[in-house]
Amino acid sequence: MPGDTRLIHVDQGFGRARQDAIYRAGIADHRPKIPTDFAELERRARDAMSEKAWAYIAGGAGEGETMRANRRALDRWAIVPRVLRDTSQRSLSIELFGQTLPAPLLVSPVGAGGLVKRDADVEIGKAAAALGLPYILSNQGSAAMEDVAAAMDAVTLGAPRWFQLYWSVDDDLVDSFLRRAEAMGAAAVAVTLDTTMLGWRPQDLNLGSLPFARGEGIAQYTRDERFRAIVDEKVRNPDPDAQQPKPSVGAIKTLVSIARNAPGSWWRNLVDKHPRAAVETFLSIYSRPSLSWSDIEGLRERTSLPIVLKGVLHPDDARQAVDLGVDGVLVSNHGGRQIDGSIGSIDALVDVVDAVAGRTKVLVDSGIRTGADVFKALALGADAACIGRPHMYGLAIDGEAGVRDVLANIAAELDLTVGLSGHTDVAALDRGALKKVD
Ligand code: GLV
Repeated sequence: MPGDTRLIHVDQGFGRARQDAIYRAGIADHRPKIPTDFAELERRARDAMSEKAWAYIAGGAGEGETMRANRRALDRWAIVPRVLRDTSQRSLSIELFGQTLPAPLLVSPVGAGGLVKRDADVEIGKAAAALGLPYILSNQGSAAMEDVAAAMDAVTLGAPRWFQLYWSVDDDLVDSFLRRAEAMGAAAVAVTLDTTMLGWRPQDLNLGSLPFARGEGIAQYTRDERFRAIVDEKVRNPDPDAQQPKPSVGAIKTLVSIARNAPGSWWRNLVDKHPRAAVETFLSIYSRPSLSWSDIEGLRERTSLPIVLKGVLHPDDARQAVDLGVDGVLVSNHGGRQIDGSIGSIDALVDVVDAVAGRTKVLVDSGIRTGADVFKALALGADAACIGRPHMYGLAIDGEAGVRDVLANIAAELDLTVGLSGHTDVAALDRGALKKVD
């Protein structure tokens, strides 16, 4: 039911049941707290967010052309319904890396969620667990993966989760993150390949706002033993050339933010050198612009987890990934946040699906907003789709319940779209369900 706190079973007839619940509540003049269309969801979320949170979450690279390309690519495909096919029994369920999922949906990692709500990652994790959908925990999360996993287990023991990895310049830190991901029960690791540097993001740049510099989104690091050892060393041997920020109201605000985001008591953190050193350390080691195929080749020896390469857009890269034996590719342009004027992810999906020809799992994200979008992605050959901004907007409006409602609404619309277009099983959708319309 919209807005409640119970588990939501995405099962047979889910779309109708959810629709019914909303209409029935409407008899008592109750309107859903979470808008059921994306435009209104986004508008309301913007009202609920700070300027900096909005810039970071909603913003994209450059002039926003890639975000528009993501939508255009989806719009180029039309669903061509078939009729008279008895769709009374439908299945949204899929198998992915040994897990049975109630719907072909995953919850994307979004960094610095603490900008939106202090306990963002925990609330998102609980919402995903309530639906049984995998949450891909962000490397740049605002809560340590162990805490998020424990909160998810409290909702549903063993609730599916993955870990998203940014490959640090420090290999021991990479190994430490991988060990922790295995220990917290990740079903796969998604290695992000497209963010070896942050893209040019005018919305953040115009505010001079980098969340990580304020200690937002570095909780995986501050909980990590290897990272803490690097920070200790930095505190013991500070860089003599390091510039100290000039005292100003802004600098003090940043200090307070760093102290609040660091583990432990915030007022003690204000005078401790470690939290500031942690931010500086993070900024200098979190990504590796030299990342190359040879790193990926060695990854299999470093983890027992299924490996998914996130950010693959070129069919040749997809072929190379298959040749290396990775378990999946995630077709993604990072929600249009990295390169302006990049190919829309659905345009790339078509080529990647053809290139891998069933030899590895294919997932997709970037621009997926609705159940109909998910339907198109699946019909074009994706095994599952990942949701990003929509669930962050639900979080902004109504915390955990908001995330749950957004995800449930997408699953409900998917179920109805599958049935109304004459299909009964998401796993059997193919391009015959669509027509290219331009
Ligand atoms: C990655 O963390 C991003 O900001 O997109």
